[in-house]
Amino acid sequence: MCGIIGYTGARSAVPLLLGGLRRLEYRGYDSAGVAVPSTTGGPVQLSRCQGKIAALEASLDKAPLAGPCGIGHTRWATHGKPSEVNAHPHRAGDVAVVHNGIIENHAELRARLQAAGSHFTSETDTEVIAHLVAHELTKDSDFLQAVVRAAAQLEGAWAIAAVNQKQPDTIVAARHSAPLLLGLGGPGVGEDSTAAENFVASDVSAILQHTRVVVDLEDGDLARITPNHYEVVDAHGKPVQRPRRRVEWSPAAAEKQGFRHYMLKEIHEQPRAIRETMLGAGVGADDVRFDGLSLDVSACARIVMLACGTSFHAALIGRSLIEGLARIPVEVDIASEFRYRDPIVRTTDLALAISQSGETADTIAALKEAKQRGAQTLAICNVLGASLSRVADQVLYTHAGPEISVASTKAFTTQLTMMVLLAIHLGRRTGHLTAERAKALVDGLQDLPAHIDNLLAASAAIRIVARRHQGARDCLFLGRGLCYPVALEGALKLKEISYIHAEGHASGEMKHGPIALVDGNMPVVVLAQRGPGYGKVLSNLEEVRARGGKIIAVATLGDHTIGDLADDLILVPDVAGELQPILASIPLQLLAYHFADLKGTDVDQPRNLAKSVTVE
Ligand code: F6R
Repeated sequence: MCGIIGYTGARSAVPLLLGGLRRLEYRGYDSAGVAVPSTTGGPVQLSRCQGKIAALEASLDKAPLAGPCGIGHTRWATHGKPSEVNAHPHRAGDVAVVHNGIIENHAELRARLQAAGSHFTSETDTEVIAHLVAHELTKDSDFLQAVVRAAAQLEGAWAIAAVNQKQPDTIVAARHSAPLLLGLGGPGVGEDSTAAENFVASDVSAILQHTRVVVDLEDGDLARITPNHYEVVDAHGKPVQRPRRRVEWSPAAAEKQGFRHYMLKEIHEQPRAIRETMLGAGVGADDVRFDGLSLDVSACARIVMLACGTSFHAALIGRSLIEGLARIPVEVDIASEFRYRDPIVRTTDLALAISQSGETADTIAALKEAKQRGAQTLAICNVLGASLSRVADQVLYTHAGPEISVASTKAFTTQLTMMVLLAIHLGRRTGHLTAERAKALVDGLQDLPAHIDNLLAASAAIRIVARRHQGARDCLFLGRGLCYPVALEGALKLKEISYIHAEGHASGEMKHGPIALVDGNMPVVVLAQRGPGYGKVLSNLEEVRARGGKIIAVATLGDHTIGDLADDLILVPDVAGELQPILASIPLQLLAYHFADLKGTDVDQPRNLAKSVTVE
């Protein structure tokens, strides 16, 4: 969704802002802009345009903005269509503001400000913030305190950064339920600083090239940065201390490194990502310790998992794993539905939120709801310091590294790895998982990276399969048991990046409706791993075949039966059932990728989608 970057220092701000905006592109956006306080007097200079950052660069080439301080923004339209006038920054008086999130009481504020003489030029909720700050500055020239007073009038979820022509080297930023952090630069601190400088950003990838030293703002915090100084205050304007931390992600991890797309690169990073997730968990020979995690398993009557999208699919798999290995009852809820159905939550429940970004508004809200109703809370997250990690009592981190492509791949398989690890951990503590079985699973996990390497080597063959079905407009994905959520995920991946209509179903449900869709133009991807239910999957396959459907089977290496039934066959290594979802996901990711690439879609930034959905 929207992205914010701000810079104040000695360098020319615009190239740094544009570089940061480019790194935020992956989040999805439809317009972009920058604001730079003038060095020669006059109002804050603006440059904005609808469309891609290349268009903004072209317009800045024609009309450059000079100055060592500025703010930049990529907008994903919520209030008002994508257009130049609605693009951020928005200016009022001496002030220009960029904003992520939604101001829920914007209509009321706009009416009040208009009545007081403010003139609005856009349809956005953001413009009210600029007018509010400008109005507050007429009472008292302290920029930070003016934003404190303006922020106190805003309702909703937002992060903002503002500049002021009267203090041209200063940026004031504020965070309220939307991510925002400070990046500290300067000689010896920044990666490339030769003089004093500081940054603000909604996502660390925007500034990673310049500094890895950051200060996470808490909800309700406001900050003022100048080249030499930063200060943080709470919502009442009182100074607060926030610790610095060093980001371990390397800037190179957020580059394409020779791959055609980030998605392809991230698919290929899965062996390493899974290995590192296991390393981070403290995996022993027949147990998983999770140093620092303290869960009283005997007091945990139920686990309630909360997640959205791909993370929701990981939760569905986690439910079967934890119920199977630890015998703890698990419920899974779509986070956006959870708090609106007056859920039953008990103090003996553990609410487990799963979110790659840790910034998904619905997941954060659902976890807060569960916490408020007395549950213990745990989060599984891929981003250190993300908002979700501050809501949860405890956090387990996956170590996928930065995921830039909107379509989640390595974050998903590391979530699945974490689910297996957590199920082993819990199973050993409830006593339902024997040391011998745990050891077999741990050994199986250790072998996964090598198996995935082999599966990745089949990418070219999977491209041929995609090419053969290139004209398809619809596609079905079928799976049973642990592979049913894999079918859901396969369908989600295909539809989001190729725009081919795809549905995932439990194979047993075919006869109850979806089979009506099957005809000679419909590829049906069937997850047919050997194990319980295999015979039934074969019957489902026969049913599809009888109706002329084209079958792409994902089966177990060494399966000599299925070849006769399938039009295309993708084989995955024979591993324990609990680990099959991880391996079965890889060919489905590649299939979706090749379908999309052959079709020529914007693989990394599919239309209408955003990397982290920070509004409800
Ligand atoms: C799909 C995808 C989304 C996310 C969902 C939740 O490829 O990435 O469905 O899984 O928006 O995001 P997180 O995991 O960041 O909470």
